[in-house]
Amino acid sequence: MLILGIETSCDETAVAVVEDGRRIRSNVVSSQVELHAEYGGVVPELASRQHVQALIPVLDEALERAGCGLDEIAALAVTYGPGLAGALLVGLNFAKALAYARSIPLVPVNHLEGHIYAAWLDREESPRFPLLALIVSGGHSDVVLMEDHGQYRRLGETVDDAAGEAFDKVARVLGLGFPGGPAIDRLASAAAGAPALRLPRARLERPYDFSFSGLKTRVQRIARGEEGEPPDRAELAAAFQESVVDSLVTKAVQAAEEHGVSDIVLSGGVAANSLLRKVLAERSPVPVIIPPPALCTDNGAMIAAVGWQRLQAGERAALDLDVAPGLRIG
Ligand code: KG4
Ligand code: ZN
Repeated sequence: MLILGIETSCDETAVAVVEDGRRIRSNVVSSQVELHAEYGGVVPELASRQHVQALIPVLDEALERAGCGLDEIAALAVTYGPGLAGALLVGLNFAKALAYARSIPLVPVNHLEGHIYAAWLDREESPRFPLLALIVSGGHSDVVLMEDHGQYRRLGETVDDAAGEAFDKVARVLGLGFPGGPAIDRLASAAAGAPALRLPRARLERPYDFSFSGLKTRVQRIARGEEGEPPDRAELAAAFQESVVDSLVTKAVQAAEEHGVSDIVLSGGVAANSLLRKVLAERSPVPVIIPPPALCTDNGAMIAAVGWQRLQAGERAALDLDVAPGLRIG
């Protein structure tokens, strides 16, 4: 059974064809990174307009690469939240028009579930329940306990900036451009050994919540020389990265132990971070599943994977479905 996945929640226009929820037949992503780079972050209106332009060419390419036509598509899975309202509206209306014109069932997908289901794509073995998902991207930092398909309990989230957002803001402070995560990752790797500078970890009321905005402010003060002679940029980048990674890993590992999970799934754009991948694998008490980078960042295949599960459960959206920019998980 072929599902078409459509994703436009932020700055990637993405369409994919996935067979039986697992096998990727095509996964086309048109990234807007260059468009937003000169502004140092995603500009919502520009993102929406770019989706308007890119969607049909991306759909055509996805169908062509999959070697199928719309008449072979069993359902359209589309992200309806969370994300930028205008960007979501473009994708959802596009999916509705296709569903209406071709009488194809429409299945609404929560973007965050998509990030978790990336762990089912193009793998022989399924992740085992209960599993702990650490979703870390430009928009989210969530610790989620998944007990079965469709059953989630959110154990923690960020109270201010998302992890990727913190990387992007600190990169700007250090003059490293956008997106900041890969730039900090590279620069930190150039610093020899563990950083001598140790930056604090936030303490929060709820054990699995995160906060990164205090850390960002501290890096800013140090970089401006407000705390004495500043260390070099690589040292500061490494100290920042080490603090973020330690917070993420410590909480994920504690949550995994408390809930006796079988696997940990790491996903979202920040899952590309080399230190995070290494430290989580070292400290986790259970196997860590990290989808390949192209499936960790926003894509249509992960949306189609969720859509397939939802379709089995009998879910369909009515054609008056609205977007849900503030949708959460669990
Ligand atoms: O999942 P994603 O592509 O889009 C969102 O849904 O937000 O994540 C993008 C985020 C950006 O904030 C980017 O700086 C961060 O992921 N990122 C990284 C790395 N590669 C991308 N953060 C840290 N280290 C990396 N290597
Ligand atoms: Zn995302």
